[in-house]
Amino acid sequence: MKSKIYILIGPPGAGKGTQAKNIASNKDFVLISTGDLLRDNVGRKTELGVIAKSYMDKGELVPTELVTKMIKANIKQNIGKNGFLFDGFPRDLSQNSLLDEMLKEFDLEVDRIIYIDVKNETIYERLTNRRICPKCKDVYHMKYNPPKKDELCDNCGEQLITRDDDKLDVIKKRLDVYHNSTQPLVDYFEKMGKITKINGEKAPKEVEAEIISNI
Ligand code: AP5
Ligand code: MG
Repeated sequence: MKSKIYILIGPPGAGKGTQAKNIASNKDFVLISTGDLLRDNVGRKTELGVIAKSYMDKGELVPTELVTKMIKANIKQNIGKNGFLFDGFPRDLSQNSLLDEMLKEFDLEVDRIIYIDVKNETIYERLTNRRICPKCKDVYHMKYNPPKKDELCDNCGEQLITRDDDKLDVIKKRLDVYHNSTQPLVDYFEKMGKITKINGEKAPKEVEAEIISNI
């Protein structure tokens, strides 16, 4: 049976990471989050991580050839699995063409793109209050999804941190990059009729149910 391919797309803070983790486990899909993979490399100070950090800290996209190399390795490792869920990739039209090429090599194609839609003010409120676990990558919100004890991860007890790119000026830059580079890709998917728009303003469980019903 052919692996299913789904893409989660949306602006920074839309809830892609929050949803991706639950949906991948619910559907038994391999989760490929480029942001998480890059942050893991940054944390381990790999060659890729050192280069990636200089772009991520400014809110800019990491060069496509580095990201696609990482993606290809990941697909190859997991070929034959039930499905793949992409979070944060593709990010622009050129990455989308490269993804199509890669998938063709494995005789696969994208089944559906799920677009999580949120308002600009929601984005700022979510990102300035986000905390993440550097160890198990759990995501929290100090108001909507706070940790049970102090700022410690419920799952593994690690001290939570704020992402380096969740500073106000970097959030602004990430939003500019989204509008200039990713929005044209969303428009393209819309023209192809392959996108399903989900209201990301609702509670996480409601958003999840809506996504699952479209997969
Ligand atoms: P990436 O990690 O992909 O960041 P992003 O796209 O900016 O998105 P975020 O992770 O900030 O938001 P999210 O939608 O995942 O929201 P979350 O679920 O955390 O990329 C980071 C950087 O890496 C890029 O800037 C770039 O440099 C590089 N990069 C990554 N991919 C790349 C690529 N393909 N090519 C080149 N460079 C790349 O939720 C946010 C907050 O809201 C949390 O606190 C959460 O608890 C809360 N929340 C979530 N849902 C809800 C809800 N429904 N109600 C209330 N609160 C909610
Ligand atoms: Mg994310």
